[in-house]
Amino acid sequence: ASDQDLSGMSVLVTAGPTVEPIDPVRYLTNRSSGKMGYAVAGAALRRGARVILVSGPTALKPPHGVEFIGVETAREMFDAVLAHYPHVDVVVKSAAVADYRPKEAAQHKIKKNQDQMTIELEKNPDILAELGRRKTRQILVGFAAETKELEKNALRKLEMKNLDLLVANDVTRPGAEFGADTNIVKLVYPGQIIVQLPKMDKKTLADRILDEALNLRASSQ
Ligand code: C5P
Repeated sequence: ASDQDLSGMSVLVTAGPTVEPIDPVRYLTNRSSGKMGYAVAGAALRRGARVILVSGPTALKPPHGVEFIGVETAREMFDAVLAHYPHVDVVVKSAAVADYRPKEAAQHKIKKNQDQMTIELEKNPDILAELGRRKTRQILVGFAAETKELEKNALRKLEMKNLDLLVANDVTRPGAEFGADTNIVKLVYPGQIIVQLPKMDKKTLADRILDEALNLRASSQ
């Protein structure tokens, strides 16, 4: 990638897990580290883009110079992303958004006076699907972490969410697990085009994803 080839462009990146409260001291979440999204945000910044990073809680420091919006729940992420969507050029949606949230978060700490307890869950909004519905000129890049039927699920998501590119990884493969510094992915494009990439550093992959987004943007204009 040449220097500053993203200058003049706005890139919205989501990263990390969401956390969904059960009561004031407990929550549901997942194993996302945020490394992939932060790498994309850092790479886009280095290449001259304006970068908005919407992130759930992670142990990482936001790259210096990004516009950082910290969120906890999927609904907060939804609001932050939708608010910025109309004026960005590229969206890279690497956050692991919780599919379900506790139906009601208890006001007070739940006491352990039952032998068994049930938490009722309800579905969170699918942020990326909503972006797909509202897409005008943005290049939309999604991620999919799967443990089986990777290609089939990836093709289905690409189509259902109206994406331009889906980065699919099998999280059961060594080197592609949650929290790793490397990833092994397939790039999936409309028209059932699937490109297997070798195992690479998340930073290298971040630049590769931005290269692809730039190409897609050039060919859609
Ligand atoms: O369907 P699945 O959750 O595997 O899709 C993954 C992609 O969709 C990721 O890019 C993720 O950030 C996005 N997503 C979302 N909102 C959700 C669930 C997933 O934006 N509620």
